Amino acid sequence: MGQVNVLDHPLIQHKLTHIRDYRTGTKAFRELVDEVATLMAFEITRHLPLEEIEIETPVCKAKAYQLAGKKLGIIPILRAGLGMVDGMLNLIPAAKVGHVGLYRDPETLKPVEYYCKLPSDIQERELIVVDPMLATGGSASAALTLLKEKGAVNMKLMCLIAAPEGVEQVKKDHPDIDIYLGALDEKLNEHGYIVPGLGDAGDRLFGTK
Ligand code: PRP
Ligand code: URA
Repeated sequence: MGQVNVLDHPLIQHKLTHIRDYRTGTKAFRELVDEVATLMAFEITRHLPLEEIEIETPVCKAKAYQLAGKKLGIIPILRAGLGMVDGMLNLIPAAKVGHVGLYRDPETLKPVEYYCKLPSDIQERELIVVDPMLATGGSASAALTLLKEKGAVNMKLMCLIAAPEGVEQVKKDHPDIDIYLGALDEKLNEHGYIVPGLGDAGDRLFGTK
């Protein structure tokens, strides 16, 4: 069964507070999402396996460590997931980036797919699917299903803020997936927005609306 991990590092929590604040404008919002994505990437990559190698320092030969195991992929769910990509690439610059385009129909709250472009070797990669918001869970669940259909076998889901309803939906549809969150909020409101949340992540990132 997949685990749900709330990354409660003080810097993540502090920055999330500013991200949530309605007075935070687009520029600061985008910078903060970028920074939190870097911090979350740091936490989410803790488990990566290392292998011992021999190197030579200016002083002597030495045993040292380098990353081993599967290569990584970052899959933002468009559009808001784009705001988390650069922050993650700061730490894992060799990761390949695939894009899944989904938007949530405002009436039905159901995800609508409009784009998918993935690295050709996703089945060999450990994929981190990123989206700031996990609300009903419809978008994330549909993205994970699509990625599995395309061959992905090793995925994690990383979101800034989730509602319990979204977490339950993903756990039900994808019990194999570990979920990493900056915060687990109280609930969804009648419009499917996370409470207290941060409002519309895509609009706040890109200055639309
Ligand atoms: C937002 C968000 C998630 C989705 C979450 O995207 O970035 O993808 O809603 O809601 P859900 O869990 O109920 O599916 P939105 O549909 O607003 O599209 P955008 O990123 O293009 O703004
Ligand atoms: N999408 C958002 O951007 N925010 C929410 O609170 C829910 C879905």
